Amino acid sequence: MKLFIDTAAIEEIREANAMGVLDGVTTNPSLVAKTGRDFKAVVKDILKEIPDRPVSLETTALDAKGMIEQSKQLADMGPNVICKVPSTVEGLKAIKALTGMGIKTNSTLCFSPNQALLVAKAGATFVSPFVGRLDDISQVGMDIIADIVQIFENYDYETEVLVASVRNPLHVREAALLGADICTIPFSVIKQLMQHPLTDIGIDKFLKDWEKVPK
Ligand code: E4P
Repeated sequence: MKLFIDTAAIEEIREANAMGVLDGVTTNPSLVAKTGRDFKAVVKDILKEIPDRPVSLETTALDAKGMIEQSKQLADMGPNVICKVPSTVEGLKAIKALTGMGIKTNSTLCFSPNQALLVAKAGATFVSPFVGRLDDISQVGMDIIADIVQIFENYDYETEVLVASVRNPLHVREAALLGADICTIPFSVIKQLMQHPLTDIGIDKFLKDWEKVPK
């Protein structure tokens, strides 16, 4: 499974990249706003750090024409830019047109297998089902991942399932068990994936014992 980082903070992207397991980046308007920085400056920094793996940048227009215009501008910023459009009817039209132009898309804010089916038919490069936000309203988010993976397998859709709105390590483990293509993960959760108290206790004991060894 590919691992993306879900952030617009360049320090987090640099640190995750240094870990050697980073396959891409996803951003959204809220994450960019959190940086307090100019959008173009943020994108420039991200693309400099990650020039060779997918970087998702989000459009904000509500109509297909606007989404297409914004996507063309975003795609001009780098060859690895993926344009995020919402999982709506207008988004579908934009995906179809952008795919025809060779511009890659990520259908974001997907909350149902039917939305995923339609965006796959339209030719989306990625679909982003938001599992955490479903959990927030007492619907098990990972259930739609199982359904979408199965549907895409049934019909050989090339659209990749990008598990988004990830809140904890269990989401990541389950995404991998279900065969999702990608998981986009906040930096705090990426760090949690490698944490284990027995590893820390073990290191501590080895170091203490090592001090007793004559050298
Ligand atoms: C994905 O591309 C989104 O940026 C993200 O996963 C949203 O997560 P949230 O529901 O925690 O805001």
